[in-house]
Amino acid sequence: MTAFEIADKERRRISGELHDRVGPTLAAAGLNLHVIQERLLAGGDPELLQLIAESQALLSQAVTGIREMLDELRPARLEYAGLEAALADFERQYRRRTGIATRFEIALWTSGEIPGRLDSASEVLLFRVIQEALANCARHAKARHVDVELRCNLGIIELRIKDDGVGFIPEAIAAGENPPGLGLLEMRERTEAVGGSFSLSSSPGRGTQIFITIPCVRAHEALSAPQTP
Ligand SMILES: Nc1ncnc2c1ncn2[C@@H]1O[C@H](COP(=O)(O)OP(=O)(O)OP(=O)(O)O)[C@@H](O)[C@H]1O
Ligand SMILES: [Mg+2]
Repeated sequence: MTAFEIADKERRRISGELHDRVGPTLAAAGLNLHVIQERLLAGGDPELLQLIAESQALLSQAVTGIREMLDELRPARLEYAGLEAALADFERQYRRRTGIATRFEIALWTSGEIPGRLDSASEVLLFRVIQEALANCARHAKARHVDVELRCNLGIIELRIKDDGVGFIPEAIAAGENPPGLGLLEMRERTEAVGGSFSLSSSPGRGTQIFITIPCVRAHEALSAPQTP
């Protein structure tokens, strides 16, 4: 198992635990508060009612936070509905959360093909790269607009992510005083681990562009390919 597969497995485990253990507990606490509120409404103390309303708001913030974490850890849509559906959800949430305008252009299937699924490792890799690159746009770039293009061309998947943000000097990251982050490094290593290529170009004031290619493996091809131990 590669380091990335181990990390993904661990993410799945944590997301399963959050979903199964914390979710029902919060739901039960919410239900209790509701019952208390109903009883108090029939002639109860207004201060207590206020406290209950505040607790309900806190609980609903916790539920929203956990939903967002679950999505980051293991977007269920990716597993069940595939890359295109998961990206559509992600794009909508990202716009709402960050206010950054997005343009996703996804063309994995030619007009003559029946749209299907990529193999699961490719779907996870592409989703994670887009997720991390867009997190960087929101955290570092001060971008107003980000473009994502994903297409399959002659058996090669090409992914280009371009923002109109502040840009940076890539060489300065490795040589900088602060320890470099893991996001870009992981993107490169994940891509190269499947025989793909990764390139990044950026300069101050000119935004940042990431371009990766990986071999295009469809789901049925992955099934019939010889299994590696
Ligand atoms: N789109 C971008 N626009 C401007 N600067 C960027 C962009 N992407 C990356 N950077 C710069 O490159 C650095 C390294 O990015 P990387 O994703 O590897 O790490 P990080 O985001 O700082 O931390 P981590 O991803 O590990 O949480 C960032 O700290 C930032 O200075
Ligand atoms: Mg990052």
